[in-house]
Amino acid sequence: MDMNSKVRLGILVSGGGSNMQAIVNACATPHLDCAEVKLVVSNRSDAYALDRAKELGIESMLIDPKQFPDRNAFYKKIILEMESRGIGLICLAGFLLKLEPNIIQRFKGRILNIHPALLPKFGGKGMYGHFVHETVIKAKEKETGATVHVVDEEFDHGPIILQKKVPVFPEDDAGKVAARVLQLEHKLFPEAISLYIKEYLRKGKV
Ligand code: GAR
Repeated sequence: MDMNSKVRLGILVSGGGSNMQAIVNACATPHLDCAEVKLVVSNRSDAYALDRAKELGIESMLIDPKQFPDRNAFYKKIILEMESRGIGLICLAGFLLKLEPNIIQRFKGRILNIHPALLPKFGGKGMYGHFVHETVIKAKEKETGATVHVVDEEFDHGPIILQKKVPVFPEDDAGKVAARVLQLEHKLFPEAISLYIKEYLRKGKV
């Protein structure tokens, strides 16, 4: 891999897209100048992330799983769009569908996910968005956080690249915890992407 060329990022989203926006912003700063966002794909037509991408001048598209006979075909289409743009790293930024083996294998070691908790705690099926934070509060945790990891075949499972903590206060509700974690995510994800590109992708470890 050419050390000076930027790694092209493809971002998969399902919702608000604030992490996507944080990555795009960071690419314009020294924090993440080793990367550029080339494509944003949403599986939902109502994802605010699509509006954000348009405003940011980033190419974006809806790929609706309902338009495909099965998930395999859906991910085949995503692979096609990513590969035709020379995407070197896929970032799951609030993408709430489970990946199929076809995309995981095709982009082996080149898909990162952000999860709003301290994995391996509070991960797995059904653990996304506010469900995570509600479970953290119910469990009376004193701290939570966010984790960026490499995606493998198991849900919320692959090698952890970076993880940081924030406190949980006794008076917190899920909304308060979510906001604190999200703020952390906006710094953590760009930092983890930069680290992964420099320490793994560019060193040929992937
Ligand atoms: C983020 O908190 C992200 O960690 C979470 O969804 C939110 C998306 O926010 N992802 C998961 O729960 C995946 N298991 P955003 O659309 O504003 O970036």
